[in-house]
Amino acid sequence: MKARARAAFVCDACGASAPKWVGQCPECGGWNTLVETAVPVGGRRGAGAGAERGVRTLASIDVQALTRLHSGVPEFDRVLGGGLVPGSVVLIGGDPGIGKSTLLLQSLARLSAQTTALYVTGEESLEQVALRASRLGVDAESLRLLAENRLETVLEAAAALSPSVLVVDSIQTFYSDLLSSAPGSVAQVRETAGQLVRYAKDRNCIVILVGHVTKEGSLAGPRVLEHMVDAVLYFEGDRSSRFRLVRAFKNRFGAVNEIGVFAMTERGLREVGNPSAMFIHRGEPAPGSVILATQEGTRPLLVELQALVDQSTAPNPRRVTAGLELNRLALLLAVLHRHGGLAVHDQDVFINVVGGVRVNEPAADLAAIMAVVSSHRNRPLDGDTVVFGEVGLAGEVRAVQRGLERLREAHELGFTRAVIPEANRPKKGWPGFSIVAVKRLAEAIDLLG
Ligand code: TYD
Ligand code: MG
Repeated sequence: MKARARAAFVCDACGASAPKWVGQCPECGGWNTLVETAVPVGGRRGAGAGAERGVRTLASIDVQALTRLHSGVPEFDRVLGGGLVPGSVVLIGGDPGIGKSTLLLQSLARLSAQTTALYVTGEESLEQVALRASRLGVDAESLRLLAENRLETVLEAAAALSPSVLVVDSIQTFYSDLLSSAPGSVAQVRETAGQLVRYAKDRNCIVILVGHVTKEGSLAGPRVLEHMVDAVLYFEGDRSSRFRLVRAFKNRFGAVNEIGVFAMTERGLREVGNPSAMFIHRGEPAPGSVILATQEGTRPLLVELQALVDQSTAPNPRRVTAGLELNRLALLLAVLHRHGGLAVHDQDVFINVVGGVRVNEPAADLAAIMAVVSSHRNRPLDGDTVVFGEVGLAGEVRAVQRGLERLREAHELGFTRAVIPEANRPKKGWPGFSIVAVKRLAEAIDLLG
C-alpha cells in the first residue's frame, strides 16, 4: 500500500523544517518563511537499500535522437527550440489575460489531430472553453477537455487516457489532498507542480503548466517553479497593444532568449512573419526616437527606442524606463556626462521601447544615449538610420554579437545607414547602405549636430 504523505513546514530560506507553522524560522530567524510541504512517510522515494542499482555509466546509456512533437504553431515551436520534447515540462508564465490559454488552445487543437491531447482547466467551465474554441475557429473535435481543480483527479484522468500532451491551466488553481493550504499558495503550487513533473517523467508525457505572474513580485507565481521544469517561457507585451512576445527564459532543450512573435486578433493569436516591420513605424523622424537593431535569440529585431528629456521641477529628477533596465540608464547617463559632455542632472529622463518589447542587451546602449541626446537637443536622427553598440565606462563603443545579422535585417527593411561599433564593421557592405563605424561615444553624438 502506498504510504500516505503528511504535511510539514519547511523554511523557504534555509530549508529547516518544523512540525507546525511559526511566524519566524527557528533556524535562520527569517520571518514568514515557513511554507507547508508534503513529506512522504518513510522518507523520500527511492532511498535505502537497492537505490544504487540506478547508477549507470554514461557510455551504457542509449541516447535516442530527440524526436520533438510539433506544437502546430511554428512560432511556439521556435521558442521551444524546435518543438516539444517528450517527457518534458514547460512552464508558460505571464500576466492574466495576455493570451496563455488562447495560445495553448490553438496549439492543442492542432496537436489533437495527430495525437492525444488533454486540456485541463481550473479556471473556466467546459462551455467557456468550447465557446473560445469556436471563436478561434479551430477544429478541435478530438481534443479532450477536463474542468477540475483537484490534482489527484487530474492525474487519474491522465493515467487512464495516457495523453502525449497534458496542459494544466493554471497551476495556481489546483490543489493536492496532501496539503491543507489554499490553491495558489506557495506550498500548493510547488506540490502540485512537483507531482505533475513526476508524472511527466514517469509516463514520458509532455506537461505544459500555465502560471500567472502575480502583481506582488510573483511569490506564489511561476517563479517558485522555474527550477523544477525543463523550459520556462514568458509572455511579454503591452496589454494595450496587439503584439505578444513569447520568450524562452530557460530551456534545457534549446536556446534561451529565443522569441516567438504574435499579434492578438479577434480570432486568437496570429503569427507574425516579419516582426521588425511590425515594431517600427516609418514616418517623419521625431527628436528622441532611434531605431535599434537588437538581437533576440537567433533572430534580429528592429525596435524603436524613444527618449524624452525634460526640465525637472523636482529636487530629484525622474528616471523612468519601460523595456530597458533602469540601472543601465543611470550608468549610461553618467557615461554621457563624463565622455559626451552632456549633463542631465537637472532633467527628467524617460525611455520607452515601443510595443512593449523588453531589451536586455548592452547593444542597446548606443541607441539609448543617442535617443537621450536627440531629445535633449531637439534634433531628430534621420529616419533611415539604425543604431547598435555597447558603450563602455570609458566612453568607448564596443563590439556586439551578431553584428552582421543586425545589419542585414536593417538593409532588408530598407534602411540606408547604420551607426555601429568600429569593431563590427563588415568586410563588405551593400550598395546604397552606408556604415558609420565609431570608436568613441563622442563620434556618435556628433552625428546629431
Ligand atoms: P487568455 O488567453 O484568456 O489570457 P490568459 O490565459 O493569459 O489569462 O486571453 C484573453 C485575452 O485575449 C482577452 O483579453 C481577450 C483576448 N482575446 C482576443 O482578443 N481574441 C481572441 O480570439 C481570444 C480568444 C482572446
Ligand atoms: Mg487563461
